[in-house]
Amino acid sequence: MSHIQSVRARSVWDSRGCPTVEVVVQLSSGVQARAIAPAGASTGAGEAKELRDGGHRFKGLGVDRAVQAVNEVISPALKGMLIADQPAIDAAMCLADGTPDKSRLGGNSLTAVSLACLWAASQQADLPLWRYLSGSDEVGLPLPEIQIFGGGAHAKGSVDLQDFLAIPNGATSFTQSLEWVAEVYHAAGKALTQQGKNLGVADEGGFWPQFGSNEAAIEALVKAIEAAGFQPGRDVSIGLDLAATQYHADGVYHWRSENKIFDRDQLLQIYARWVNDYPIISMEDGFSEDDIQGMQAMTQLLGHRLQIIGDDFFVTHASRIKERAEMGACNAVLIKPNQVGTVSETWQALKAAKGLGLDSIISARSGETEDVSIVHLAVGWGVPQLKVGSFSRSERMAKWNEGLRIEQDLGRTLPYPRKHLFPWLSKP
Ligand code: PGA
Ligand code: ZN
Repeated sequence: MSHIQSVRARSVWDSRGCPTVEVVVQLSSGVQARAIAPAGASTGAGEAKELRDGGHRFKGLGVDRAVQAVNEVISPALKGMLIADQPAIDAAMCLADGTPDKSRLGGNSLTAVSLACLWAASQQADLPLWRYLSGSDEVGLPLPEIQIFGGGAHAKGSVDLQDFLAIPNGATSFTQSLEWVAEVYHAAGKALTQQGKNLGVADEGGFWPQFGSNEAAIEALVKAIEAAGFQPGRDVSIGLDLAATQYHADGVYHWRSENKIFDRDQLLQIYARWVNDYPIISMEDGFSEDDIQGMQAMTQLLGHRLQIIGDDFFVTHASRIKERAEMGACNAVLIKPNQVGTVSETWQALKAAKGLGLDSIISARSGETEDVSIVHLAVGWGVPQLKVGSFSRSERMAKWNEGLRIEQDLGRTLPYPRKHLFPWLSKP
């Protein structure tokens, strides 16, 4: 048995060159472990609130106050606690914070401490984190959703939709999934460059394209899948993160890049046509975080042949998942630990989704680091899908590469991808 001796934080840098919180946990046994909090850009209103310094320095994004909160409030509150008791550690932090949205000590502080404690517990048990979490359960690698084009808030609105993703649903291993998507990624980049439409790299590493319309980006992705030698739909399909809260205001949906305004029904008709015309198997946040009726209508119309994910819509809160999914909104949940702020509450959200028969996808944020915790959470908790952005830049590749290592260490794994995913697709 080992106890927490100290919890120390420092300010480090994320993939956007902004400060974020790193935490080092020291145990009485001598074990030391660390974790870093990620940060979103298109955040949901219901997320745990980050503690940032404000002012002019680093666009107000400094985390000196969060570092201080860890060192002066959280560390004494956790000192002496059993490292194996993650629920008690997380509960003690929530109590010390005392707010419903973690705004006093900061969701960023709590996330980094919670994850660092989890790593310390696995090291104390002398197990890889994924194995510490899975216990004796048989586990497998998640199917990745990998961004090819970035838009929305991650590319200054070059197109309105946020993520155009490749899902290698026909691949038979994680390793093969990455190999296939690598070919698609490079085919997409080559075509963009030839057409003079490549504006650079968006926040999550995908190409930052110059397309005439949102649909043109979908068409370009289909072409890239074909150019890479794959059959769209059978081998590699398309996922979209629409992040529609970003283009919703005053009750209407406004695609600025196309100068078009839609009401809820008009937008749903466009989505329905796309699902008909393109190999799209997953759509995330198709309606705004407050538009329950929109999500219900979408799920009713398309839920039998489309994965409909709530991200900002659920913000990884178990109570919100229960309440909204019971109303028939969405059939899958995006899980981001820093949306809720602790490992234990993330687990509660997953349990809530599972209990209601919803699938889950563990996800990174647009602001990331070398931290690979989410890959271990996905494998160890048996989450069948993983979304960490694109196929470039080391904050993304660190996570894909960690998945490769785990797949090799695992030996025998569950069927890949998990058979229950996308049941409407004909499978061999
Ligand atoms: P964010 O976006 O990390 O900027 O919030 C990621 C997503 O919407 O999935
Ligand atoms: Zn999203």
